[in-house]
Amino acid sequence: MTAILRKIPKFKNICHYIHFGILTRTFSQKEVVKKEELLHIPVMVNEVLECLQPEAGQTFIDMTFGAGGHSQRILESAPDIKLFVLDRDPVSYSIARRLADRFPGQVEPLLGRFSELPVLLKSHGIRHSSIDGILFDLGCSSMQFDVAERGFSVSKDGPLDMRMDGGRFPEEPTAADVLAKVDEVDLVKILRVYGEEKQAKKIARAVMEARYTFKKLETTSELGDLVASVCVDEERLDKLQRRVHSATKTFQALRIFVNNEVNELNYGMIVAEKYLKVGGKLVTLTFHSLEDRIVKRHLLGNVIDNAINPLPLKYTNVSLWYDRNEVDSLLHSNWKLIHKHVLTPSVEEISTNPRGRSAKLRAATKVIHPNV
Ligand SMILES: C[S@@+](CC[C@H](N)C(=O)[O-])C[C@H]1O[C@@H](n2cnc3c(N)ncnc32)[C@H](O)[C@@H]1O
Repeated sequence: MTAILRKIPKFKNICHYIHFGILTRTFSQKEVVKKEELLHIPVMVNEVLECLQPEAGQTFIDMTFGAGGHSQRILESAPDIKLFVLDRDPVSYSIARRLADRFPGQVEPLLGRFSELPVLLKSHGIRHSSIDGILFDLGCSSMQFDVAERGFSVSKDGPLDMRMDGGRFPEEPTAADVLAKVDEVDLVKILRVYGEEKQAKKIARAVMEARYTFKKLETTSELGDLVASVCVDEERLDKLQRRVHSATKTFQALRIFVNNEVNELNYGMIVAEKYLKVGGKLVTLTFHSLEDRIVKRHLLGNVIDNAINPLPLKYTNVSLWYDRNEVDSLLHSNWKLIHKHVLTPSVEEISTNPRGRSAKLRAATKVIHPNV
């Protein structure tokens, strides 16, 4: 997908997508933040705590601080917890700074992406193999979804932005920029791979035609209406059998692309493994199958050359020959699963917090593989 971005002329310099560089512009609308942080209900918080088992004096990283729901519960679960809280969104960073005021000396707010974390941790003197527990609660926060100006939601009319980093990197393409420049073949790929959208070809064609008719796609409702106009025959339902907008998958795909989420998660899993102690706990909450697949492949050791192998194993090239040692080194995993299967939220939790309906929790302990 990085190759696709390079083709978008205005954004040839996309180093910030995959490399480090810290900008610390903070969000100015603090009064808006207070109202919003109440809106994000943390998902499967009891299960998260059961897996992390925080003890007095331990050190944790919340990789996806959001509104701080999980962080707060971790801090309350045992005395003297030290918590590094990361988020790429300046709105979350402002909330994290307020949490730090409430828990003096215990919370270290960090503004950045998973890919920026090693630099941020280094500046705090944190070494590899020194952290007791790490949490990823992936996807968007309610503050991102519910604020129309952020452009994440098909049901809230606003500019087609979708950048989780807010204004930290002004050159970073918005969803509208991608739709204005991407070519048809690449757009089909984005919609298929990141949105699992069956109508990807139809939608991509409509986006191209919109360009020729000088129809702008600059707002969420313009894109939503366009997708609805080509997906007329089908009613789409979510896991709770509620009707969903036909552009929901298109929005998911664009969001994942704009925020480089797949590469970020892949890298984040590598970083987590490096910073956890042996015996340290990892907990991940994922919300769609692409994310879950990446986590699972890391935990099971199906990661080749640090890249996620996108094919099910049965489709891989059988003519490639690896000797025993090579196979062991490719497939080794420094993780021991805490549960054999994924955990999902209870029916009661889903009824009070429908946003968690597609959550999958995986947890693992860092171990040292005997072949390493
Ligand atoms: C679902 S929310 C987390 C909610 C949080 N657990 C709570 O209880 O409030 C996910 C957060 O992760 C952040 N995020 C997603 N990808 C990230 C990345 N690559 N680096 C840093 N933060 C990221 C988003 O900005 C968002 O605020």
